[in-house]
Amino acid sequence: MVSLEYVSKTYRLPKGQLEAVRDVTLHIPKGTIHGIIGASGAGKSTLLRMVNLLERPDRGKVFVGEQELTALSARQLREARRSIGMIFQQYNLVLNRTVSRNISMAMELAGVPKRERLARIEECLKFVGLEDKAEQYPSRLSGGQKQRVAIARALANGPKVLLCDEPTSALDPQTTADILEVLRHVNQTYGVTILIVTHDMNVVKKICRRVTIMEQGQIVRTVAADELEGMGDA
Ligand SMILES: Nc1ncnc2c1ncn2[C@@H]1O[C@H](COP(=O)(O)OP(=O)(O)OP(=O)(O)O)[C@@H](O)[C@H]1O
Ligand SMILES: [Mg+2]
Repeated sequence: MVSLEYVSKTYRLPKGQLEAVRDVTLHIPKGTIHGIIGASGAGKSTLLRMVNLLERPDRGKVFVGEQELTALSARQLREARRSIGMIFQQYNLVLNRTVSRNISMAMELAGVPKRERLARIEECLKFVGLEDKAEQYPSRLSGGQKQRVAIARALANGPKVLLCDEPTSALDPQTTADILEVLRHVNQTYGVTILIVTHDMNVVKKICRRVTIMEQGQIVRTVAADELEGMGDA
């Protein structure tokens, strides 16, 4: 479903350059939940952001479904990105818009008619268990509720892939468990392929089928999540 072939990314800095990801090849089967772990600075976020070309690799190819994203025009890429949702540690909600409007925005950009938007907002909010918060502003929500809104927003355009960058790192253990349940439910209900960057081995053990361990921009190995038993935090 998601394939990276020999992707590399080098950042140019005032003093020289930094190779954040080097020659990474990774295949993630459709409908699976895949973890990416590794120390701070290992290149996890850079790798994740290359999947939807938020970060364009200097070399290598990115495939999502049948499409090679690295071969698309700007317009085709905008279209293709609608099937790739993303959530973040800090939620990235628009603070001066209500929960409904936050979820609506991506659909407005995609030209979805209002009636359909309203129906989708209701469906997505119900899915994450927040139908009573539609007219609330994000500042009035708990961290776990904000992440649920972010998930609802990511679901609005009916994604095939969901990219998650440390989605539970700002949450307490119980809220983390709740959010992981929501993500598992997304995977099972809609068949969405999920990539999760995390520092937390428990996240991996709880919902990932396989996990890729990164070190200094490269993949050390990819193993079944249950093979991690006995290892400490990344
Ligand atoms: N926009 C950027 N410009 C320059 N350097 C960057 C940029 N983004 C990341 N880097 C560098 O690339 C390397 C990999 O960063 P990345 O954010 O991918 O790591 P990470 O594994 O996600 O780390 P963390 O666990 O701290 O989030 C780091 O050395 C980082 O400083
Ligand atoms: Mg990161």
